[in-house]
Amino acid sequence: MSKLIIANWKSNPDSSGNAALLAAKIEKEISSVRGVEAVIAPPYHFFSEVKNNIRKAQLGAQNMFWENVGPFTGEISWRHLRQLKIKYVIVGHSERRRLLGETGEMINKKVIAALENGLHPVLCVGEQTRDAEDDSSVKDALSVALSGVKRNWLKNLVVAYEPVWAISTTPDSKPDTPANAFRAGIHIRKIITSLFDAKSAQQARIIYGGSVNSKNIWRFLGEGKMQGALVGASSLKPEEFAEIVAIAAKTK
Ligand code: PGA
Repeated sequence: MSKLIIANWKSNPDSSGNAALLAAKIEKEISSVRGVEAVIAPPYHFFSEVKNNIRKAQLGAQNMFWENVGPFTGEISWRHLRQLKIKYVIVGHSERRRLLGETGEMINKKVIAALENGLHPVLCVGEQTRDAEDDSSVKDALSVALSGVKRNWLKNLVVAYEPVWAISTTPDSKPDTPANAFRAGIHIRKIITSLFDAKSAQQARIIYGGSVNSKNIWRFLGEGKMQGALVGASSLKPEEFAEIVAIAAKTK
């Protein structure tokens, strides 16, 4: 399976001109890279600027609403994303859980709506702290988020292991170690196996997020056995992001 590298621009950059420029620079740098899926998830407001400047990279989304079109003020539904031919949509990012009160039940509805409608959700899970008492949080988050999911949908599921303490904007953050990411990947696969079965669980893709850069990516993909990365801060630096994509293309 080819590696999946997703640029999570969050609420950046500051203008549509800069979004177009950033997308064009990334595209130029990665246009000849093969064997990796590179996705740019910009704010909705910049969808067309990004889409108009990419070919090799794909457009992705940072969030979606679970209902079809209708009276849902401020929301962008799965149908809107489908119209833009978007494949990957980030769901349940810790910033949305924390700042906007997104609950497990809401995330579950989004995961189901995405999978039912042919989108590939990138479901974010991860511990808040490094404390051992947080150990059950990934299991709890996955059990709630995947409730009602059909096993034959798992081939379109991406789980992003994002320990909150490793996200670059968390105070005193530090990237996780590849060894811990490896353990987390096995743990996540076991939880999905217990919820479904081993064969179906094998189909889901597990990626890592949290202070990924061009220096540490190869270790997360190699030693950590991660199948890709969700990249925040480094995705706003085109050369840096392109380097991450290039390294992912070379990692078996
Ligand atoms: P970071 O963000 O790469 O800046 O740590 C990752 C994320 O929040 O998705």
